[in-house]
Amino acid sequence: NNSEPTVVAIDGPAGSGKSSVSRAVARVLGFGYLDTGAAYRALAWLVNGSGIDREDVDAVEGILPTFDYTIGLDPDVVVVTVNGEDVTDAIRQPEISASVSAVARVPHVREHLNTLFRSIVADTYVPGVVIEGRDITTVVVPDAPVRILLTADEAVRAARRSLELSDTAVRVTAEATGDQIRARDAADSQVVDFMNAAEGVVTIDSTSLNFDETVEAVINVIRAATEKE
Ligand code: DC
Repeated sequence: NNSEPTVVAIDGPAGSGKSSVSRAVARVLGFGYLDTGAAYRALAWLVNGSGIDREDVDAVEGILPTFDYTIGLDPDVVVVTVNGEDVTDAIRQPEISASVSAVARVPHVREHLNTLFRSIVADTYVPGVVIEGRDITTVVVPDAPVRILLTADEAVRAARRSLELSDTAVRVTAEATGDQIRARDAADSQVVDFMNAAEGVVTIDSTSLNFDETVEAVINVIRAATEKE
């Protein structure tokens, strides 16, 4: 069916490079790009700003009806808004990274956001969409024609993430970044398994690949899967 976009689902741990790789893949193929982690971060931003206790499940669930969230699908301009406010930069701050797992573990939050993600994908007009997160291949769109788990050794992920952060105002060592990545992955993997590929999911290990090689590896998997159809 030509009117339906080709859905490419990508999961992986923190620092695996899935966001930058997914964006680049979308750019090359002329696809849309949907960062689901951004939605969890946007909700954490709203929760933090509302002064409610993020460990209070009822309060977090209670805020969902007022969570008016938008994200663009253009891989070149990813703008996230909450209730009309541009939060694109705010949701990348360390305090959001440190608090997002508490919000993401609430089952109603996940159901609410998954419904949103599926409707964004269904409403897209682009030839395809790359959607990335932690449970995309297993829960959000388990029937997607292309499903990939992007991994890399922990030390490599820490080094890449600390290099990324060195561009910003915060200077962090690979060691400290490693601790943060470990803590977040430990918390997040209690909710969904993104360390092991589910049946039918292709694993791409980028430990010994550079950025361009990783992008190419993903594109090769997409081409192989869509040519078969
Ligand atoms: O990919 P990221 O680091 O921006 O994701 C932010 C948080 O959101 C991450 O700590 C786990 C959570 N998340 C999730 O639980 N499920 C997803 N599909 C995407 C993100």
